Amino acid sequence: MLKMKESKIGKAHGKIILMGEHAVVYGEPSIALPFPAVEMLATVRENEGPLRIDCSYYHGIADEMPEILQSLKKAIKVALDSLDKPYENLSISIESAIPPERGMGSSAAVAVAVTRAIYQYYQTELSHEKLLELVSIAERIAHGNPSGLDAITTSGSSPVYYRKGHDFVPFDLQMDAYLVVGDTGVTGQTKEAVQSIADRIQQEDQPISLNKIHTLGSLADHARTFLEKNDAVSLGKTMDHAHQLLVELGVSNKELDTLVKAAKKAGALGAKLTGGGRGGCMIALVANEADTFALQKTLREAGAVATWVTSLKKEESR
Ligand code: MEV
Repeated sequence: MLKMKESKIGKAHGKIILMGEHAVVYGEPSIALPFPAVEMLATVRENEGPLRIDCSYYHGIADEMPEILQSLKKAIKVALDSLDKPYENLSISIESAIPPERGMGSSAAVAVAVTRAIYQYYQTELSHEKLLELVSIAERIAHGNPSGLDAITTSGSSPVYYRKGHDFVPFDLQMDAYLVVGDTGVTGQTKEAVQSIADRIQQEDQPISLNKIHTLGSLADHARTFLEKNDAVSLGKTMDHAHQLLVELGVSNKELDTLVKAAKKAGALGAKLTGGGRGGCMIALVANEADTFALQKTLREAGAVATWVTSLKKEESR
């Protein structure tokens, strides 16, 4: 009897964009953090064939989203093609706590987890550069023209400062503050949000939206300085300013604005949408851990379907 190959698991975490979403698409700076509070697991095992794919997503919501299955299939194809391996005789299952289409890097994370699992299954070494290359290919197929920020953040373990076309710069967090993440429960399509800004820019005689994009990039640079100086109050102000610009660029929505306002009213130092917007998640900054509990309650009362907390001091999240 033929010996079955051992099943293999690949993992990936979500991501949070602290500053610079959308601006990063135009070559402006951005800052993003790995978000290990939400994780994705891919398991590859032997199967009689044909290729079998099972997805179990956050509250089962991906079941009605064919585009998620499509991006998963593309990521699998990219990984298997790179190894020159056939598609049959595999069973690939995904278990994800990363809500899809909520600005948390779900599509990049699925590519990271699947690629890691497939390379492990075929006992092939996978360097970070190679992983990044494959995930970027899968992301380009799924999203058109992504900046690469999601691929970098979901495949790495450090916060990053990133500008498209430049090497990303990992850095350590040392701020005495916390981010509370609130999920609106509304899906937001990153591809459409990115396209809507491109359309605005194209339709304008004056560079109104482009100037806002440029300001968002400068705010990301300021935010980096404030993170280094442990100045949470100033970081909060840059977050508020960034949210206002993202509203003006048309990528916020009613649910995001409600949560951002509720967070500010409850005393958050700053609050903004995170990721592609038009739904998805927002983040709010607070100085004390004790305040994170009250803020989560406030956000849930204002309509958040889920909340999380992550520390800006070191890798501590829950
Ligand atoms: C999506 O997570 C972030 C965006 O800036 C798009 C991108 O970077 O490709 C909106």
